[in-house]
Amino acid sequence: MRSPRDFFKPLAIGAPAPLREIPVRPSRMIHFFDPSNPRMADKAPGIAAKVDILLGNLEDAVPIDRKEAAREGLVQIARDNDFGDTQLWTRVNSLDSPWFLDDVTRLVGEVGDKLDVIMLPKVQGPWDIHYVDQLLAQLEAKAALQRPILLHCILETALGVANVEEIANASPRIQGMSLGPADLAASRRMKTTRVGGGHPGYLVRNDPDPDNPDAPRASYQQDLWHYTIGRMVDACAGVGALAFYGPFGAIDDPVACEDQFRNAFLMGCVGTWSLHPSQIEIAKRVFSPPPDEVAWAKRVLDAMPDGSGAVMLDGKMQDDATWKQCKVMVDLARLIAGKDPDLRELYGF
Ligand code: GLV
Ligand code: MG
Repeated sequence: MRSPRDFFKPLAIGAPAPLREIPVRPSRMIHFFDPSNPRMADKAPGIAAKVDILLGNLEDAVPIDRKEAAREGLVQIARDNDFGDTQLWTRVNSLDSPWFLDDVTRLVGEVGDKLDVIMLPKVQGPWDIHYVDQLLAQLEAKAALQRPILLHCILETALGVANVEEIANASPRIQGMSLGPADLAASRRMKTTRVGGGHPGYLVRNDPDPDNPDAPRASYQQDLWHYTIGRMVDACAGVGALAFYGPFGAIDDPVACEDQFRNAFLMGCVGTWSLHPSQIEIAKRVFSPPPDEVAWAKRVLDAMPDGSGAVMLDGKMQDDATWKQCKVMVDLARLIAGKDPDLRELYGF
């Protein structure tokens, strides 16, 4: 067992000290692009100005014969651009792949000072994190980095979900997690071929009408991902890390995409992936708190200046707990308002 006193010591001589708190910045969408695709690479700086997080993807969706081009493309883009307050992340290949070691060695060595977070796919348990934690410390020391690179895990294996709390607690580098519904479905032998979202077969049905047993019975589609998102949100919140929805593959169904994103927002996620420019606006709309909710939450905070006691507001009971709920909403609105002048005006800050 490791001493709690050692948890915040660097894992390599010369590596930066681990962070005590995860930085909370606007993180409504992690926009994926393929740095091996020259058209996408050219557009990356323009897209960066519209998103909270830009991610150079090296893993799935990048063909095997372009893995190295993707890695080198990302090095070039990171070197050539200053993305301002937009975070730069990468998704590296999985730990058992032939590319992982060169992905992290090259990226940390060449542009480690520009990279905020490394997204790790197919995390199975805390042993994966311990390995990457130490390796990153060695690479950070070698590159003389001044701040640690954080880790974001994709929850996309059955074993990873079973170990989610241990993963969240494995290192102070854990920045957050995303749901990976495609790999997770395959790993669990779920019978859906969709990437995220619901399934018309996963439903509950009303009982038959005893007076008319053959009449059509209403049915209600259920959310296939509710259980996993719930576990991920609790595991992340328990360590001060951030939870995200993941990919929604039906680019042609913006309505269902928005619904799925909103479920995740309501359950505690701070953002989602955007796989296509059309999903950036959807994510922005969903993961920025609604102005009417913010106005209400501000009224509650104003009515209870020290956050204690009980008051009635428009017939609704408020106390210390509702004050905290409202503070979550107002704090998020303030964070987003710092980046988005239109929303600042709508929120009245
Ligand atoms: C994402 O990586 C997924 O597998 O859904
Ligand atoms: Mg995946």
